[in-house]
Amino acid sequence: MTALLEANRISKSFRGLRALSEVSLRVDEDEIVGLVGPNGAGKTTAFNLMSGVTPPTEGDIHIAGQRINGMSPHRIVRLGLARTFQATTVFHDTTVVENVRRGLLGALGIRFFSTLFNTASYREQTRASTRRAYDVLERVGLSGHAHASAATLAYGHQRLLGIAIALAADPKILLLDEPAAGLNPAEAQMMGEMIVRLHKELKISVLLVEHNMRMVMGICDRLFVLQHGQLIAQGTPQQIRNDPRVISAYLGSDDDEAA
Ligand SMILES: Nc1ncnc2c1ncn2[C@@H]1O[C@H](COP(=O)(O)OP(=O)(O)OP(=O)(O)O)[C@@H](O)[C@H]1O
Ligand SMILES: [Mg+2]
Repeated sequence: MTALLEANRISKSFRGLRALSEVSLRVDEDEIVGLVGPNGAGKTTAFNLMSGVTPPTEGDIHIAGQRINGMSPHRIVRLGLARTFQATTVFHDTTVVENVRRGLLGALGIRFFSTLFNTASYREQTRASTRRAYDVLERVGLSGHAHASAATLAYGHQRLLGIAIALAADPKILLLDEPAAGLNPAEAQMMGEMIVRLHKELKISVLLVEHNMRMVMGICDRLFVLQHGQLIAQGTPQQIRNDPRVISAYLGSDDDEAA
């Protein structure tokens, strides 16, 4: 079976620092897969390579069988991979729904958007993107805030807005970079439940980077564990929990949220 997302021995060096070293991983259809590891392990770097922010120094990345090395983020989104960012970034000068619309047009590129929605005029384009924006806001539970100024959103809601923007591109695979960061335990619990619901309702696979081990262990089918840029373990949550290398990687770090 062709993997939805496959990284084959990818490496990334930053001026001599090897942030990622020959890491291979795959995500198939209908999976929630975790990518975990202590701070600085290379998780966000892996996301940056897979979403086209920066090319790998070595190795290949395929989305649904298509090699994406060197492709622009726009093209990668069009192939069905969307991501969120570790830090929340919203347009503060406008409404929540307009944030999703702008985020969607920015992610896809306006020319492609017109083709996708078969909309020639600017007005039709606005209408179609607005409809899509309302739809995804509904899915993340933010439709009641659609017309609020994004600047006034509570932090937890800003995290949801970031997910809504990624979902607007209608991905087959969604990469989430620490969706629960900064959330309280009850909010984190709801975030986990929402990720599972989105996975089921939209039939999307998820690659989840997260330090909240309760969430990771609770919702992931499989996990990959990075340390110092290297893959040190992979398997089911049960296998990972009992893996001596994983335990020592976490005990050896100052990451206090680790299981
Ligand atoms: N653009 C960059 N230039 C130089 N070094 C970088 C760059 N991006 C990341 N690094 C380095 O690469 C390593 C991995 O960083 P990365 O952000 O991928 O870790 P992470 O696993 O996401 O950590 P965290 O859990 O803290 O978010 C770190 O040593 C980091 O300082
Ligand atoms: Mg990171």
